[in-house]
Amino acid sequence: MDDVRSSYKAVIKEICEFAWSSLSETELSFAARAYYYFSIQFRENLLAARNLYPDDPQLAKLLFEECDTANLSPWPGVAAENERMDHDDFMRRVLQLSVMDPKLQHTVDAAGYQYLAKVRSATCYTRATSIRTYEDGGLENVFRAILRAQHWENPLLLGFRHFLVKHIGFDSAPEGGHGHLVQNIAPDESVGNLWAEFRNLLVASVPGLTRVVPMSTVTVLQAGQAPSLPCQ
Ligand SMILES: [Fe+2]
Repeated sequence: MDDVRSSYKAVIKEICEFAWSSLSETELSFAARAYYYFSIQFRENLLAARNLYPDDPQLAKLLFEECDTANLSPWPGVAAENERMDHDDFMRRVLQLSVMDPKLQHTVDAAGYQYLAKVRSATCYTRATSIRTYEDGGLENVFRAILRAQHWENPLLLGFRHFLVKHIGFDSAPEGGHGHLVQNIAPDESVGNLWAEFRNLLVASVPGLTRVVPMSTVTVLQAGQAPSLPCQ
């Protein structure tokens, strides 16, 4: 378990150390588009986990808070008061809030389809157990890193930020948080490959993530430190 953990945690660390704080509004919008593809496989993997552990009440609760849920509603132009939807559908609607360069959009979509094909070629067991690594602090750390970005001006990015801030709350809640709901699942040794594919998707979609940023300009949000960002 420790070997498994260190392999995927190294990739998470790499993603967190990307130059999020240096991204322009356009680059961050493409990162949001890349994340949409992650959110599709997240839902699919969660359903795989439910199929693998059909009697796990914790997983049932997690599914209830990620799929067909109103816990991100309302949001302007995306979700009406109490409107229920899957979280990837929320992201799909968010992407429609601002116009993107069609050529660059095509690049991200091509990388996204390739990413989904690779994730879908993993075993059901790997996909199901990836949920432990996503919910047990992995995504929370990635989301805190993304929130280091400086430019959130357009409606698409405001919607993406709402998604990120709300999810940090869902995952880290001391009682009944998503991190607690996945403790019965032990990640498969191949789960690091899924994280590596996510890293590759991000870099293919936003090459600027690998630019070198002087450390003095980087503000790091520590685990447990709430982002000082407005959230409706
Ligand atoms: Fe979650």
